Formats: sequence, structure tokens, C-alpha cells
Amino acid sequence: MLIAIDKVLTKDEVAACRRRLDAAQWLDGALTAGTLARSQKTNQQLDDADPAAIALGEDILRRLWPHPLFISAALPAQIFPPRFNRYAGGGAYGAHVDSALMRPPGGERTLRSDLSATLFLSEPEEYDGGELEIEGAFGVQAVKLEAGDLILYPSSSLHRVTPVTRGARIAAFFWIESHVADEGERTLLFDLDQAIQGLTLKAGPDHPQLLKLTGVYHNLLRRWART
Ligand code: NI
Repeated sequence: MLIAIDKVLTKDEVAACRRRLDAAQWLDGALTAGTLARSQKTNQQLDDADPAAIALGEDILRRLWPHPLFISAALPAQIFPPRFNRYAGGGAYGAHVDSALMRPPGGERTLRSDLSATLFLSEPEEYDGGELEIEGAFGVQAVKLEAGDLILYPSSSLHRVTPVTRGARIAAFFWIESHVADEGERTLLFDLDQAIQGLTLKAGPDHPQLLKLTGVYHNLLRRWART
């Protein structure tokens, strides 16, 4: 399931973020790719230890941890600190699957990537190409969102970034370990939670059937969640 989360950052916040990123030092993205992905990846990336990357990444996570739609969709247990990349001059990232296990910088515990996230920091009009193409059960979906919007997709999916033939595509990207590893179980919980929230607005939070459904949600979560 692909889930778009609009306006994670305001346009002013995107502009401030872009000013810091424009002044930062971009490195060859192949340095951080796995052995198989290396030949596929022609982009630029900020070093994990770059102070701008660390500060901007923290800003993004401060916004996401309490975000209701993000929590509902990802049920996050651990988030890899955001990284930043830049595609220009034909830069692309060929089809690949993200690594399953990763060690966050300075982290003690290995993170299992259940969901991948891309936060767009360039407006779609600023560049040609640069679609994030994600393969799923219903075919390939091409994603190109407004600056400040985020897409969540299963880390297990084959995905690629098509060549950027004009302008530059700047984005933050990161991975999430979910309390519910199974994509199917997580999707059911998300659908149930969204339905409960919709009904709450219509019927009021004290409706007895709604209380029952909320109980079902939490009891399924209790059954499927790992802490
Ligand atoms: Ni990837």
C-alpha cells in the first residue's frame, strides 16, 4: 500500500530546508549504496555526519513522530535518521529493493526496514523525470509529489527513480521499522483505524458500536504488534 502524507513541511519550512541544503556539500551517492545497488545509483547525497543533514533530519522526525496519519499508517517503532539526496543531469537510481537490516548511525539496535519514505523537497515543476516508480500487486505506480509531501511504501517493493533530465530533484528519504512487520496486517489495521476515525466524526466518540470497533482495533494490534 502506498500512502501519501500531505504537508509534512510547510512551503516556508521547505524553503528554509532548501537554503541549508543548497549550501551543504553533496557527495557521490554511490558511496552509500550496497554492492548490488552501487552500479544503479547516479545521484548525490549528504554525508550522514553533515550537521545540516542531522539538524534537518531531526526537524522532520519531530514533525512525524506525533503525526496522526503517519502513526496510523506506519505504527512506527524505530525510524532511521533521514538522509538527503539530489538527482540532476540525468541522475537516476535503477530498480532495487532496500536493504532489510540497517544500523542507524550511533544506534545500538539494528533496524528492520518495513516501510520506506521519501519526502519531496523540490516542486514537480522544478525538474523533468525523477519519478519514484514503485512496483506493486496492481502494477507500477509513478510518484511525484509537491515539495513538503511524503510518500510511504513497503520496503519490500521493487522501486526506482527515473532519470532527471532537467533541473534538480532534492528529497529526504528514510526507513521505518513498524511494530507490525507484516504488510497485510498493517494495511488491515490502517483501514480499520481510518474507518473508526471517519465514523467517530459522524456518530460521536461514545457510540457503543464504535467502542466495540475500537476494542477490535486494539485487540488486533495487541495480537500482531511486536515491541
Ligand atoms: Ni530504495
